[in-house]
Amino acid sequence: MIKKGIILAAGTGSRLSPLTKSINKQLLPIYDKPLIFYPLSILMQNDIKNILIIVNKGQVDQFKKILPIKNNLGIKIQYKEQIKPAGLPDAFLIGKNFIKNDNVVLILGDNFFYSRNIRKTYFKNIKFKNGANILLCPVKKPQLYGVAKINKKNKVLEMIEKPKNPKSNLAITGLYIFDKNVVNYSKLLKPSKRNELEIIDLLKIYQKKGELTAKKINKDVNWLDAGSVKDLSLASQLVKNVEKIKGKKIGCLEEIALKNKWI
Ligand code: TTP
Repeated sequence: MIKKGIILAAGTGSRLSPLTKSINKQLLPIYDKPLIFYPLSILMQNDIKNILIIVNKGQVDQFKKILPIKNNLGIKIQYKEQIKPAGLPDAFLIGKNFIKNDNVVLILGDNFFYSRNIRKTYFKNIKFKNGANILLCPVKKPQLYGVAKINKKNKVLEMIEKPKNPKSNLAITGLYIFDKNVVNYSKLLKPSKRNELEIIDLLKIYQKKGELTAKKINKDVNWLDAGSVKDLSLASQLVKNVEKIKGKKIGCLEEIALKNKWI
């Protein structure tokens, strides 16, 4: 069972500029809630109560204002600052004292998942012991994403960043599960040409050991990268439609805590 989750909510947010010039993208609204509520709700739906949120230097107080404090809602949130955008695996160097010897989920603060079956859990029932696991989503334009090719047993055979001639239509989403080795493996990584540690390099370490598996998102799940203007707006429309027309709540932290009997 996985009990710890990290939300990576720093970054520059340049694709959303000028919206992000004075505000962190994870604090921008998706319809009636800040963006960060949605990845946090995914962790909570999957029974994760122990959460580390990584934010940009000087921004902790802004997040504390809008997120549950102490054990409110039954979850425990800690914060750490990332001094500069050093890449996604930097989360494990920053979070090493939080992870200790446990498995951990990483979710990107701008990733939006919604399933028509609102009670859907993404990884609660996954048989995860060791290694790493990625969540894959079929997309129309794989050229725009990191893409993975898998075998029938869901083992990852190959991963390519923005391939010109994609061998699969499965994009790697921003939801990952790692075992305790993630901290040591992250220490082995060297910055890429864009001077960042790359998540694909970290995943390749697991893949070479035959320890990288994947789970495909069901057709009823919507996955959006709310770090782009188009998807930020689409996510807002989706939440509005579901909440107003169907009367269901998305990303409502209190509702999930109640359902989980945490409050
Ligand atoms: P990206 O969208 O790849 O990067 P970004 O947020 O800087 O945005 P842009 O590309 O528009 O400049 O980041 C994905 C998520 O990971 C996002 O929620 C921010 C977070 N992130 C960090 O917290 N630290 C980092 O070093 C990086 C690269 C991303």
